[in-house]
Amino acid sequence: MTQRVLIKNISILAGVYDENPGKVSGAAMKSLPVLKDAWLAIENGVIADYGTMETWGGISDWTGLEVIDAGEGAVLPAWCDSHTHLVFAATREEEFVHRINGLSYEEIAKRGGGILNSADKMAAIDEYELFEQSRLRLNEVMHLGTGAIEIKSGYGLDLESELKMLRVIRQLRDAAPIPVKSTFLGAHTIPRRHSGNRDAYIKELINVIIPEVGKQQLADYCDVFCERNYFSEDETVRILEAAAKYGMKAKVHANQLSKSGGVQAGVRTNAISVDHLEYMGDEEIALLKNSSTMPVLLPGAAFFLSLPWPPAREMIDSGLSVAVASDYNPGSCPSGNMNQMLSFLCVAQRMTPEEAIHAATINGAYAMNLDQTLGSITPGKQANLIITHPVKNLAAIPYHFGSNPVAQVLVNGMTI
Ligand code: NIG
Ligand code: FE
Repeated sequence: MTQRVLIKNISILAGVYDENPGKVSGAAMKSLPVLKDAWLAIENGVIADYGTMETWGGISDWTGLEVIDAGEGAVLPAWCDSHTHLVFAATREEEFVHRINGLSYEEIAKRGGGILNSADKMAAIDEYELFEQSRLRLNEVMHLGTGAIEIKSGYGLDLESELKMLRVIRQLRDAAPIPVKSTFLGAHTIPRRHSGNRDAYIKELINVIIPEVGKQQLADYCDVFCERNYFSEDETVRILEAAAKYGMKAKVHANQLSKSGGVQAGVRTNAISVDHLEYMGDEEIALLKNSSTMPVLLPGAAFFLSLPWPPAREMIDSGLSVAVASDYNPGSCPSGNMNQMLSFLCVAQRMTPEEAIHAATINGAYAMNLDQTLGSITPGKQANLIITHPVKNLAAIPYHFGSNPVAQVLVNGMTI
């Protein structure tokens, strides 16, 4: 039997594109197409049609129709969160307090905290317990409006623990109703056993760990933390090229703490995205303009670590697309709340609400190869949607920072 759902009394249906726009760039990011006072029809989990309440007669066949009254809430494509580390074994509140008391993220890492701290906890945790914890986090962010997500490994740093993380990501993918993409981030930092001999770890990554991850087909992407004291531009390229041989596409943690060469490494390897981008210059912006690589902003991490804000305004004004993701992780952003990320973009980075919504939907979808099926209100796309509380305009969503604008989330046309 055909599953039919009709959402009526939508104050604003946002991101309405009759055809898939792919990524949205530059000035176009400001003009988000909307239908006011609208309805939306879903058939078998897929967006079928939409119109204004005046054209309500557009629906001819009412058999088996489930009607959802949006009650003057807005309907948007669910958030597409293209960068998270939500599989982790333990939180790191003690480092948070160290930073309040004056230590920097890098100083904490030098003292053995940071990613190495998370790696110790990862080695010790049982796989089932890791899955259970992570499942709760995934469930939490789905209820906050996330309708597609990418999750990284990178707290394992050896074959056994990296595979454990990637298996948990695969189990989450199999259990979750939303699309889950998997990224191998073995090059997150140099593990303790190789300290002082970075090349030994890079060789282990290239000769042992990447081939095994590839053979078991556990990752869609490979990512590298390209940063001073972590991995250089050339090391990043070597690692990403090795992973490409196993079908893993490139992503890069780029320019978070310095001009690290991460953007260069991403463009050289035709990366699908380069993420963070706190330290950008004209050269980096020009390189991205001549590429298909999506710049991804992670404002939660910039906020939580008190880093400078990426030059989002300049990037968009120069014609680039930008996406936004949560970076949900225990060290630099212990929140996966995409609604909050939108507020950061608008308040601190002077992006308009419409630009922020584009960044969190279609451009986020692009950054995980999901723009064909998600990220806009387009016939034929998956009905992963947010219904907000009653709102008169879209600005209300980032404006009420810290409140939850989400009244209901639909995944494949079904309320979760
Ligand atoms: O995206 N920058 C590197 N990786 C993470 C943080 C990892 C951690 O501190 O646990 C990030 O910010
Ligand atoms: Fe990250």
